[in-house]
Amino acid sequence: MKKDKRSNLRFDSKAVYCPPDEETKSIAPNIVMSSSFQYDAEIFQRIVEGERKDVNIYGRCGNPTEYQFEEQMMMIEGADACLATASGMAAISITLLGLLKSGDHIVCDWTTYSSTHEMLDHRLTDYNIETTFVDTSNIDAVRAAIRPNTKIIYYETIANPSMKVAPVAPLVELAHARDIVVVCDNTFASPYVMRPLEWGVDIVVESATKFIGGHSDVIGGSICMKSKLLPSDFLEQIRWNTMVKLGAPLAPFNAWMLIRGIQTLSVRVERQCQTAAKLATHFEGHPIIKQVWYPGLTSHPQHEVAKKQMPKFGAMLTFEVEDGDAALKVLDNLELSCFSASLGGVRSTTQIPALMAFLDIPKPEREEMGIRDGMIRVSTGLEDAYDLIEDFDAALSKLK
Ligand SMILES: Cc1ncc(COP(=O)(O)O)c(C=O)c1O
Repeated sequence: MKKDKRSNLRFDSKAVYCPPDEETKSIAPNIVMSSSFQYDAEIFQRIVEGERKDVNIYGRCGNPTEYQFEEQMMMIEGADACLATASGMAAISITLLGLLKSGDHIVCDWTTYSSTHEMLDHRLTDYNIETTFVDTSNIDAVRAAIRPNTKIIYYETIANPSMKVAPVAPLVELAHARDIVVVCDNTFASPYVMRPLEWGVDIVVESATKFIGGHSDVIGGSICMKSKLLPSDFLEQIRWNTMVKLGAPLAPFNAWMLIRGIQTLSVRVERQCQTAAKLATHFEGHPIIKQVWYPGLTSHPQHEVAKKQMPKFGAMLTFEVEDGDAALKVLDNLELSCFSASLGGVRSTTQIPALMAFLDIPKPEREEMGIRDGMIRVSTGLEDAYDLIEDFDAALSKLK
C-alpha cells in the first residue's frame, strides 16, 4: 500500500499494517541484527560526499529495523518525521539539546517525570540554560513566565503523577505567536489516547518503553515532529549532530519488539482505559482513600479540558492514602497488581512517586509539584477489573 493511502487509514489499521519486506515478502518485519554494513565503492563514495539518506553507515547512526519503527511511529502519531532513540530519556535529552543553546530559556510544567525535571533544574543550568517551572494548565501563568529568550514550552499530556491535563490549543496559540516551540511528553497517554501533533504541538516525545512496548520487556523512545516553526529536516539534523554523538540509537531487536507493540496498542489501551475508569470510580467512594486523580472523573480539576482534547482518559490514575507508611503498606499487601517502577504494561503496576522516582527532589519542592507522600500511582493492565478492585480492597483493609 502506498504511504499516502496508509496515512489516510484509521488508527487501528495504520497501527497493524506493516509494509511487507521487499525481498522476502514477510508480513512480520525483518530484524537486521547488524552493527556494521558492507560498503562498495559507489556506496563509499556517497558516504564520503556526505550523503546520509538510504545508506547504512554504522549501527549508532541508524539501522533498517529502527527505520521501520520510525515509519510506524510517524503513522500513529500523525507525524512528518520521527527519530527513534534508546529510551524515553534519550528522546527527551536529545530533543532539548538539539533545540537549545547557552542563554536559552524554557517554560516547563511543575510536574514532569523526575529525570526530566532534574535535567532541566540541574544539568541544563550547568550550560546556562534556565527553566521556569509553572502550572501549564494555567495559561496566564505560562504567559507571565515567557521571556524574550524562551525557546520551548514543555509539558506532559497527562502529568506524572498528578494526572494534570494542560489545555493544548491555548498553549500552542500562545507559544506560536512568539515563535516558541511546544514539546510534549505523551508517554502517560500514548498515541491511542492523544495525538498532540494534531493539536499543533511541534514535537512529541514518548517513552516507548511504556504503552507502546506494552509488555514491560523493552526500553525505547521516539521523537515525532510536525512543525511549521522548525525546518522539515530538523530530526535528521539532530540525528547526526546530537543522537549519533551521544550514542543513543534504538537497538534493532528493541525496534522490532516495539513495532510488534504498536500493532496491539489500541486493543490493549482501550481495555486498560476501561479498567482505569472502573478503578477510579471505585476508589472515589472508598472510605480510606483521601483523594483520587483520574481525568475521566468529574472531580478532576481539568475534566472538561480532558473531555475536549482526549477521546479516552488514559490508563493511569493516582490516589492518596494517609501518608507514605500507609502507601507502602498497601503496596506491600497487593498480590495481583505489581509494586514496580514502570507503567503501561499488560500487568498492572503500582508505585509511590514520593518514595521512588521523586525521592531525590526535596519534600517542599515535591509538594509544590503536587506530589504528596501518601500518593499511590496505578497503571492498569489487562487483568479483570474486578479482580484488581478486590486486590486493592484487601490491601487497603490492612490499614484499618
Ligand atoms: C512520563 C515519562 N517520560 C519519560 C520517561 C523515561 O522513559 P525511559 O525509562 O524509557 O527512559 C518516563 C519513565 O518512567 C516517564 O514516566
